[in-house]
Amino acid sequence: MIQLHDKQFVPFISAKEIDFALTKIVAQVEDDFGDETPVFVGVLNGAFMVVSDFLKKYKSPCEVSFIKMASYEGTESTNSVKELIGINQDFSGRSVVIIEDIVDTGNTIEELKHLFKAQNVKRFKIATLFFKPEVYKKEIKIDYVGIRIPNKFIVGYGLDYDGLGRNLTEVYKLAE
Ligand code: IMP
Ligand code: MG
Repeated sequence: MIQLHDKQFVPFISAKEIDFALTKIVAQVEDDFGDETPVFVGVLNGAFMVVSDFLKKYKSPCEVSFIKMASYEGTESTNSVKELIGINQDFSGRSVVIIEDIVDTGNTIEELKHLFKAQNVKRFKIATLFFKPEVYKKEIKIDYVGIRIPNKFIVGYGLDYDGLGRNLTEVYKLAE
């Protein structure tokens, strides 16, 4: 059990399971994009660890970029997604693969899809390490999913509770 601010968290997903899930999605993405040079766009802050480990496994030519979005306050998703660091390069004609730590309501993904629509990209796909199917409310297809999880608030491996917990190498869930 670990304590972050006022809440307690218990072990949920091991480093080994994360590694296995990443290996799986990297293989799928490499299958689909191996003969082009995709731009992987990591969604900060949460996705920094996923992007790092994803890229180390991805052996074909690729580029990486980041965008910074925020929708969460504490343990709740809010409906307004803020773009904190926006698109600062030309993506026209490029194949873009968004890399997310977790897709929850889908508000962030919807906003990203909207942003990239104006960019004349060649292909646009979404990869996420974690996905909460019970909470997801959008029509947009999530192309590559690592691990489906129930509607639990999780921390670790880049994910935080009010700033804390991102440095944990395994994933913990809120204790009931
Ligand atoms: P969405 O816009 O509701 O899909 O939420 C997406 C973002 O909220 C993710 O990229 C995370 O940064 C954050 N988030 C969603 N679920 C969790 C969670 O269980 N723990 C920590 N952050 C989360
Ligand atoms: Mg995120």
